[in-house]
Amino acid sequence: MSKEIVVSGIRSTGHLHLGNYFGAIQNYVLMQDTYDCYFFVADYHSLTTHPDPKDLKANVFRVVAENVASGLDPDKVALYAQSDVPEIPELYLMLNMLAYVGELEKVPTFKEKVRSHPENVNSGLLTYPVLMAADILIHKAVKVPVGKDQEQHLEMARNFAHRFNTRYGQLFPEPQVFRFNKEAVKIMGLDGIGKMSKSENVNATIYLSDDDATIRKKIMKAKTDQGPSEPNAEMPDFIQNLFLLLQLTASADTVTTFKDAYNNCNIRYGDLKKQLAEDMVTFVKPIREHATDLQRDETRLRKILKEGAEKARESSRKTIEEARKLIGINYY
Ligand code: TYM
Repeated sequence: MSKEIVVSGIRSTGHLHLGNYFGAIQNYVLMQDTYDCYFFVADYHSLTTHPDPKDLKANVFRVVAENVASGLDPDKVALYAQSDVPEIPELYLMLNMLAYVGELEKVPTFKEKVRSHPENVNSGLLTYPVLMAADILIHKAVKVPVGKDQEQHLEMARNFAHRFNTRYGQLFPEPQVFRFNKEAVKIMGLDGIGKMSKSENVNATIYLSDDDATIRKKIMKAKTDQGPSEPNAEMPDFIQNLFLLLQLTASADTVTTFKDAYNNCNIRYGDLKKQLAEDMVTFVKPIREHATDLQRDETRLRKILKEGAEKARESSRKTIEEARKLIGINYY
C-alpha cells in the first residue's frame, strides 16, 4: 500500500526556535518513518521581506542543518529548497487564476503585515497563501504538520484545491492539518506578547542556536506575576506558556510538583524558572551542537539539498503534467 503524502515548510528568515520545533519539526520527525514526507525550506516565501542576497544561502543551510540536528533523516524524507523545484511557481501561477483578491485581502496574516509594514505591501505578500497551496498541492499531500498560526492558510489551500478540481477535474486531495497529539501548538514569547518568532521578539524567543547562558538569561527574565491568590485559580496565558514549556522538556514528576504548588498558592516562580532553564539547556544543547557541526560541513548540506530536490522534482513533474492536461495547455 502506498504511504500517505505529507508536506511542510519553514521560511528561511532567521534562526529556528522552540515554536518551530514544537509546532512543526517534532511532528516531522515522528512522521518520517510512516509517511511519504516532503519537507522544504521556503526560500521563495522569505523574499517577501527582501533579505540581503548574501545572507540567503547561509540561512537556507542553517534551516537544513537545524532540521537534521533535530532528528530529521534526509534519507527517509525529501528535504529540499523550494526554489529548486520550478514546478512550484508554475502551479502557483495556475492557482493564482483561481484565487480572488478579495479573499486574499481578508487573510489575517496579510492584514497584520499591511498594518506593521505599510511601506512593503507587495503582491507576493498578498498571494502568499497561494504559493503555500502550490507547495502542498504539487505533491498531492493529504497531511500538513504545522503550528496553529498556519491553520487559516491550510483552509485556503483546501479551497484552491476544491476550486481547481471543480473547474478542471479531480486532481488534488484536500490537505488537512496534522499533529500527533491532536492539540494545536502555539508557543508564546517569554514576555507574554505574541508568539516566539524568527525575526521579531528576539529576547523573548529561545532559539535552537542559543547558548546555555543565553537560554538561562532569557528564561529568568520571563514574565510572571504575583502568583495565584486562591487555590486552583486559572493561569494567565504567559504562566500557561511556562508550564507548556516545562511539560515539553521536563519530567512528568517535575511538572506535577510545580502544578500542585500553583494550585496550592505556594508556587515560587524563581524556582520554576530555574528548573525550566536547566531542562531547556539540556534539551537545546545537543541540537545546537549537532547543527553547528553540520553547518561546517557544506558538502554534506549541498548533497542533502541536491538529493532532496531530485525526489521533490520527480513527484512535482507528474502533478504539473496532469494539471497542464486538465487545464488544456498541452499542445503537442
Ligand atoms: P514559519 O517559517 O513561520 O514556521 C515554520 C513552522 O513553525 C510553526 N511555528 C510555530 N508553532 C508554534 N508556536 C510558534 N510560536 C510558532 N512559530 C512558528 C509554524 O506553524 C510552521 O509550521 N508559511 C509557513 C511556511 C510554509 C509552509 C508551506 C508550511 C510555506 N509553504 C506549506 C506548510 C506547508 C511559515 O511561514 O512558517
